[in-house]
Amino acid sequence: MLAYRHAFHAGNHADVLKHLVLVQLLTHLNEKDKGWRYVDTHAGAGGYSLASTYALKHREFEAGIGRLLAHEPATLPPPVAAYVELVRRFDGAARGESAPAGPALRQYPGSPALAVALKRAQDQLRLFELHPTEHKILAGYLGREPGCEVRLADGYTALKSVLPPPTRRGLVLIDPPYELKTDYTKALGALREALTRFPEGMVMVWWPQVQLVEAAQLAQRLKASAEAQAKKGWVLVRLTVAEADARGFGLLGSNVFIANPPHTLHGALQPVLPWLARELAQFAGAKGYVERSASA
Ligand SMILES: C[S@@+](CC[C@H](N)C(=O)[O-])C[C@H]1O[C@@H](n2cnc3c(N)ncnc32)[C@H](O)[C@@H]1O
Repeated sequence: MLAYRHAFHAGNHADVLKHLVLVQLLTHLNEKDKGWRYVDTHAGAGGYSLASTYALKHREFEAGIGRLLAHEPATLPPPVAAYVELVRRFDGAARGESAPAGPALRQYPGSPALAVALKRAQDQLRLFELHPTEHKILAGYLGREPGCEVRLADGYTALKSVLPPPTRRGLVLIDPPYELKTDYTKALGALREALTRFPEGMVMVWWPQVQLVEAAQLAQRLKASAEAQAKKGWVLVRLTVAEADARGFGLLGSNVFIANPPHTLHGALQPVLPWLARELAQFAGAKGYVERSASA
């Protein structure tokens, strides 16, 4: 049942998109002193070795974070530079070096590692992971960190226990494996649940671009739910980098939907998506763009 291991995919183009947006949202929350709560319904292991047999099996990171590291940091668009800086810092800390690491990355941060890097003393992390091995690694990494709680639990059902945050500031990341088609309906249900309990909260859903009707329909369903429930509208970010194989299979790209985005998000990401599409392209038709609701 729980066959998915994120270590195979760590640092690929989909992680780049998801984590770049995540860093933007948490950085925005840090603009005010009032504490926030970050909820990760599908947290994974927290960080991944790119030298592991998992990561080296398909070397997905090479066509993702690997391509961004080839650039001088000063030449990167600012949102990309902010994300890459945190990736380099995580790798440097894992190697025991204080200076940012060179181009060959050995460790890649998962979403909890990026959140803890941006967390201040007044902020909280609530991390759910159902795979016992991934949970054990995550609990070993962040279980004793002040303000962090790591639970071996179903993130969909546990979500309601941590919303709304006491300060009514926060971000929910819904990032399931989508190995089962039911994840598409459950992710939508989780967004609705989060917005019912926390209508002003930021809710971020990641999902893959694959040739499945469930994947194609999710954008419209998320938009309709956010139109009905979110106080500050939505932003949808799409990045396509590859084409399907002859049988119609393959990960073509990914999408990130944000309910109640910062009002600056659309403008900050608009120039970045075409740039990312060019940098991460695996075929001539690569494209990236950002949409928003009238109220975002
Ligand atoms: C895509 S990975 C998460 C990656 C992580 N959010 C990141 O960006 O670094 C999805 C994770 O969800 C876990 N998982 C699957 N079903 C779950 C559930 N119902 N509740 C919590 N975790 C689940 C898997 O074991 C896997 O580690």
